[in-house]
Amino acid sequence: MSKNIVVAIDGYSSCGKSTLAKALAKKLNFIYIDSGAMYRAVTLFFLRQNIDLKDQESVINVLSKIQIDFQTSDNQTLITLNNEDVSKEIRQMPVADKVSTVSAIKDVRIEMVKQQQRMGRSGNIVMDGRDIGTVVFPNADLKLFMTADPQIRAERRYNELISKGEKVNMEDIFENLTKRDYQDTTRVESPLIQAEDAVVLDNSHIDETQQLEFAMGYIKPLLAKKI
Ligand code: DC
Repeated sequence: MSKNIVVAIDGYSSCGKSTLAKALAKKLNFIYIDSGAMYRAVTLFFLRQNIDLKDQESVINVLSKIQIDFQTSDNQTLITLNNEDVSKEIRQMPVADKVSTVSAIKDVRIEMVKQQQRMGRSGNIVMDGRDIGTVVFPNADLKLFMTADPQIRAERRYNELISKGEKVNMEDIFENLTKRDYQDTTRVESPLIQAEDAVVLDNSHIDETQQLEFAMGYIKPLLAKKI
């Protein structure tokens, strides 16, 4: 049997990685894994347990108590943390504020990468994040690097949160987003960088259908080769 197909999507915060990844997974019947949601779930657990992030021993100890899974229900992917559905809570501001700090911790990354690589062995997958094409799956069949104008990204994120009934303001969103860009690209452990063999997709001025078509243009030849 031929090996699994891996599509790795990396890029900046709020530039539509998960929208594209979900659409691709649905179209291709691949498994979708949102690696950012995993870092968010760890962050939520650390916040709830009031963990001192500088205390390596407690960080490692707590990591061994975290079980993260993805479940599909009514066409939606839910993320569970020790069997509790935390899909909504991980998107709220307290987690958004701390997730870059937590995801910069080496021991956290080692554990998450291990789990992501294990998930990648379970079938054809689309995984999105920051280090998927560079660290988690350096041999991915297709690597996409997504980017978009920061102002446009902030507006999209603002509209998404408002439509979910969150009370947010544009300035906070923009600040959180630029701060995360800075932290993600300058951290020591697995910073966000474009893999040399990644295809760049700037979606500032294209819609969801167009970005799906763009990605499918690279995936179709791959599928043909695997048959
Ligand atoms: O994609 P997202 O915004 O849900 O990701 C949340 C945070 O997790 C983001 O600030 C960067 C971090 N992250 C990471 O370091 N590595 C990944 N593979 C995915 C996300």
